[in-house]
Amino acid sequence: MSGVGIWGVGKGLPKELVLNDDFIARGLDTSDEWIRSRTGIQSRYIAGPDEATSDLAYMAACEAMAAAGVVPAEIDLIVVGTTSPDYLGFPSVACILQQRLGIRVVGAFDVAAACSGFNVAMTTATQYFVSGMATCALVVGADCLSKYVDWTDRSICVLFGDGAGAAILKPVQSGYGVLYSRLYADGSHADILNIQGGGSRQPFTKAVLDNKSHFIHMQGRAVFKVAVTAVLDALQTALTAIGRTPEDLALFIPHQANLRIVEYVREKMGLTEAQCFTNLQQYGNTSAASIPIALCEAYAQGRICDGDLIALVGFGAGFTWGVNLIRWGGYS
Ligand code: UT7
Repeated sequence: MSGVGIWGVGKGLPKELVLNDDFIARGLDTSDEWIRSRTGIQSRYIAGPDEATSDLAYMAACEAMAAAGVVPAEIDLIVVGTTSPDYLGFPSVACILQQRLGIRVVGAFDVAAACSGFNVAMTTATQYFVSGMATCALVVGADCLSKYVDWTDRSICVLFGDGAGAAILKPVQSGYGVLYSRLYADGSHADILNIQGGGSRQPFTKAVLDNKSHFIHMQGRAVFKVAVTAVLDALQTALTAIGRTPEDLALFIPHQANLRIVEYVREKMGLTEAQCFTNLQQYGNTSAASIPIALCEAYAQGRICDGDLIALVGFGAGFTWGVNLIRWGGYS
């Protein structure tokens, strides 16, 4: 076979835009200055009571299919990276999406790797092409983590936003598309970022609700340290594996969690500002959606051209991280 590449991208966002100052108006003890200087975030979109993860995924998928010129009948695989599905457990967002898009009976499933979800979904879908089990895949990263945060916890609620991004994967010419994929996980860091209540370990009870253990808990500084080491090692290893250097990268699209993390990695890698894409300023941390939303915007802004080498590097709870190096274009 030739390669597997991205033919079209799309994004889906909730209706409500929340500015940093809106938190103060809601009575939270924070400031625009703190949020901007510690994270880079200026605003984020938050899903309303009538919006769930599959609604945003559906918007993103429709946009990606239109961009790729693909109709539902062509899709033979759906992989969704999410850890905030519409329903606890099942059905999956992938199955809800399949039904809404009118896609015939095909393989459709969610993968759970928190903010690394899109990398895991991309890597998984790519392997279906390699094994001959897929010819046209819809790959989505979608999350509504705002529904899992304690809106009185200033250390968490200002960080996250909701959204979805999607990509259509199809064969491309040899030498293009996904050149390298690698997934990593280190479960020994499971305790630095988690949601403890509401699962099979601590099913929902009044105590879970009272203790707020069904919300996201994070040791921010510990996550920060693990993240920068993981991203730096993974990106360097990936470039070396394909015989490239940081100068060869047209665009580095990291998970959009914190501008300080992105800047630290960018400087350590010796990348210029022009080689690095960020949009967390507008969207906050949208978890599995952050990389495909960024990819979508970078492409729309003309920051990605045919022949460009781009790096997608995700990291998140688990602890998980992953890299996809993609040579853009090669359509024929
Ligand atoms: O996508 C998943 C991956 N997640 C991440 O990558 C997150 C990585 N970590 C981070 O981005 C940063 O650690 C945070 C942005 C979460 C926190 O920044 P920090 O510089 O590590 O701050 P901190 O947690 O050490 O808190 C510093 C101070 C504390 O006050 P004291 O104890 O020094 O008096 C906090 O209570 O800032 C306080 N603080 C706030 N103040 C105003 C925490 N949140 C806020 C807030 N507004 N929203």
